[in-house]
Amino acid sequence: MIRKVAHIAIAVKSIEDALPFYTHALGMPLPRIEFLSQEGVKIAFLPIGGTEIELLEPVDPQGAVARFLERRGEGMHHICLEVDNLQAELASLAAKGVDLIDREPRQGAQGKVAFLHPRAANGVLVELIQGTQ
Ligand code: CO
Repeated sequence: MIRKVAHIAIAVKSIEDALPFYTHALGMPLPRIEFLSQEGVKIAFLPIGGTEIELLEPVDPQGAVARFLERRGEGMHHICLEVDNLQAELASLAAKGVDLIDREPRQGAQGKVAFLHPRAANGVLVELIQGTQ
């Protein structure tokens, strides 16, 4: 079962250059910033209304976000939906013929995650994350 939008991720060339829109223009608080070396990205987490906007800046030129920026430029990278049972959700989606990138959960920045193929969702990359309770 889907519980909520966990985050919306936006690919940016530079977090520093992208931040003033969120922190100055929109007045959001300064984000927490983390490096996720296995994904080759730096992430700025901007909490808002029980969900988060994540700005993804590539630090590895060979990484998935760097390649996304080369192909499509800056913009929305994926949406992440929280589910109560990731394993069961993946099995249910597979049974319904939905194209999965990950057939099994894997470790993400904030827990177990799995990605669905963009062709399953009108061109939008969808990430599912296991809820904590
Ligand atoms: Co994500």
